[in-house]
Amino acid sequence: MTIIAANWKMHKTRKDARAYLEAFARQDKGSADIIFFVPYTVLDVFTDAGYTFGAENFHPEEKGAFTGEISLPMLRELGCTHVLAGHSERRHLFGEDDRLINRKVLAGLGQGFHVVLCVGEQLKEHEAGKTWDVVRTQLERGLDQVKDADRLMIAYEPVWAIGTGRCSQPADAEQVQKRIKTWLAERFSKQVPVLYGGSAKPDNGKDLLAQEHVDGFLVGGASLDPEQFAALCRL
Ligand code: PGA
Repeated sequence: MTIIAANWKMHKTRKDARAYLEAFARQDKGSADIIFFVPYTVLDVFTDAGYTFGAENFHPEEKGAFTGEISLPMLRELGCTHVLAGHSERRHLFGEDDRLINRKVLAGLGQGFHVVLCVGEQLKEHEAGKTWDVVRTQLERGLDQVKDADRLMIAYEPVWAIGTGRCSQPADAEQVQKRIKTWLAERFSKQVPVLYGGSAKPDNGKDLLAQEHVDGFLVGGASLDPEQFAALCRL
């Protein structure tokens, strides 16, 4: 089944989240595997809502003197089963490097979570024809020492397409997705789902999903509106 993951980023209060879930449940036809990545403060609104959900961020250590951080055991207690790692906003706005991202991937998988590792090139890298070099390096480093890909997913998110309305052309996305899937199949000898992210919306989603190596979406902006997100999930 298609995997459609929402990434709310820093949006929605608890009141907003409750209203969203009510509206979304009315529209949801159960036709996709849905995952909600939401802010820490609304995680427990999802605890008994019947949807798979996860955290947008976490610290790789189980506990310690890390003021302001949240650990995996804390997330597990709320019923979280999934985590994001390596999102471009964490990489480029918060300075997370491949080393830290790798620690997060290893910690998340090691603690039994499903991990979505995000990779993607910036505009200048895209224009310089370096997309695959960048993505391969992020995969190699982010997945260093990962032995078991059972609970791993990748989201290919070209940075220039995130939140810009400038979605990748389906054939361009497909080319990168195919290389990622081939690389993963060689590395792990198994199929790892690869999502596409970057201005995915109901009106461009169908053509993207029609591509052989697009297993679903990681959706920012279009996940904030329950009707729009439900429409994407029904594609
Ligand atoms: P977007 O964000 O759908 O708003 O482009 C995607 C993401 O950041 O995961």
